[in-house]
Amino acid sequence: MEIDVFTLFPDAFGWFETQRHVRNALAAGHRLAYVNYRDTTTLSGHVVDDTPFGGGVGMVMRVDVVDWALRARYGVDPVTLGGPRPDGGARRVIALTPGGRILDDQLVEELANTPELTLLCGRYEGFDERILDHYCTDRVSIGRYVLAGGELAAMVLADAVLRKLPGALGHEESVIEESYSAALDGAPEYPHYTRPAEFRGWTVPDILLSGHHANIRAWRLDQSRLRGGQAASE
Ligand code: ADE
Repeated sequence: MEIDVFTLFPDAFGWFETQRHVRNALAAGHRLAYVNYRDTTTLSGHVVDDTPFGGGVGMVMRVDVVDWALRARYGVDPVTLGGPRPDGGARRVIALTPGGRILDDQLVEELANTPELTLLCGRYEGFDERILDHYCTDRVSIGRYVLAGGELAAMVLADAVLRKLPGALGHEESVIEESYSAALDGAPEYPHYTRPAEFRGWTVPDILLSGHHANIRAWRLDQSRLRGGQAASE
């Protein structure tokens, strides 16, 4: 899988790249690259944004700046990027924006099965709408609140996608049966416990110490369902 992140702040991803599952994914041949919109803007002073037509506060990412950056990276007219390709490849061009489709396990799964992802991070007041209309296959939000930019959202998305890739975690079962996965019918994960078996009088459910794997499994699925029901009624 190849993930290209378009951003004004590529350095923001330094910490992210030190994460073990990210390093594992990169070592397994997956690719993570950064493109700085400023590197290809031809506007004087390397400008990337402008004031909104119609007035209002803040600055808006310019459509021409995004076009230049995408074109320089891919060597094609960027309106074709998300479309069908002769080589059968598939790319999703994703704008990180607070009003987009909420990122959940189902979307993460879809994206983890897409070989090429382009993540567009906005800053300031957001994107000129024509960027979203003409270059993007998706608009994705990590929640109904506004961040100062798309970088944290891109990291959240890339984190969730990369840990789904084979070899990223080093123990594959943990991705198959985790919170919100199909294996748990989309419910939250069951509770976990580890040593000590008792601490300040707080004990661990006896079933988990029983060594009876079938019963443990049944108990875990039950707990997951219960939590799912609780979350739904909250
Ligand atoms: N950019 C700013 N806020 C965002 C959010 N909540 N989700 C995705 N991208 C964003």
